[in-house]
Amino acid sequence: MTKTLGLIGSGMIGGAVARLAVAAGLDVVLSNSRGPETLADLVAELGDHARAVTPEEAAQAGDLVVATVPLKAYDRLPAAALAGRTVIDTMNYYPDRDGRLAELDSGELTSSALVQRHLADSRVVKAFNNIDFQRLATSARPSGAPDRTALPIAGDDPGAKADVARLLDTLGYDAVDIGTLADSRRSQPGTPVYVDPYLAPRPEGLNQEEARRWFFETPGVPVSAERVRELIDATTFDATTFEN
Ligand SMILES: NC(=O)c1ccc[n+]([C@@H]2O[C@H](COP(=O)([O-])OP(=O)(O)OC[C@H]3O[C@@H](n4cnc5c(N)ncnc54)[C@H](OP(=O)(O)O)[C@@H]3O)[C@@H](O)[C@H]2O)c1
Repeated sequence: MTKTLGLIGSGMIGGAVARLAVAAGLDVVLSNSRGPETLADLVAELGDHARAVTPEEAAQAGDLVVATVPLKAYDRLPAAALAGRTVIDTMNYYPDRDGRLAELDSGELTSSALVQRHLADSRVVKAFNNIDFQRLATSARPSGAPDRTALPIAGDDPGAKADVARLLDTLGYDAVDIGTLADSRRSQPGTPVYVDPYLAPRPEGLNQEEARRWFFETPGVPVSAERVRELIDATTFDATTFEN
């Protein structure tokens, strides 16, 4: 049972996961690249169940650790400190942001397989990568709620996936096991299960401020486990694009 969640990266997704975790009664140990002092506002918001440390310390403090940095920084994740741990990988490949990674462009590896290769002594599970941070923060529901939302998870270690599924349940989501890290290409950017199913259709003709308000104020669309399976099954590899 996860009691303490370590976070490497405490931005939009890291912050959303940390808020859900504290709301569920977990302790969170946050980190980023600029140093713990730069996380003072988030720690103050989260209260007594949060503290900020270095990435190495977050790696060692967490029963589970969430790696949620831009993919271009994957090789700076502290592999030694993460050895033996289950690491939740939320990362997506956006070449405009991350630069070109030949093994991903060729389809030889998924981004999570690349992360697993760097974290060779950890158990990597992909999760939280296919929902935007605002819906992630607001679509959580208690177990059994009729409007509960499901998220895909993928990984090579069944025990690690079971731990991550339990964490998702604690945070307010059902988990749908979509297979291995190689299979995680079915939840990458550009696939049917990526972001859009969780969002209401965006009205046309919004100006920038209206679009910003729409994004922050529009409730998410519940996506059942059955619907996630349908979307995953409907994925063809041609549908996968890195150009988002
Ligand atoms: N935003 C979304 O809605 C969304 C949805 C699904 C998946 N994702 C994916 O999740 C990942 C995180 O996205 P995000 O939107 O949360 O990004 P973000 O808001 O830019 O936050 C990134 C975080 O990573 C930290 N970081 C960067 N390099 C680091 C390093 N070498 N060591 C430790 N921490 C480091 C940053 O710290 P500093 O600020 O100190 O540099 C920051 O806290 C990305 O791979 C993204 O593709 C995002």
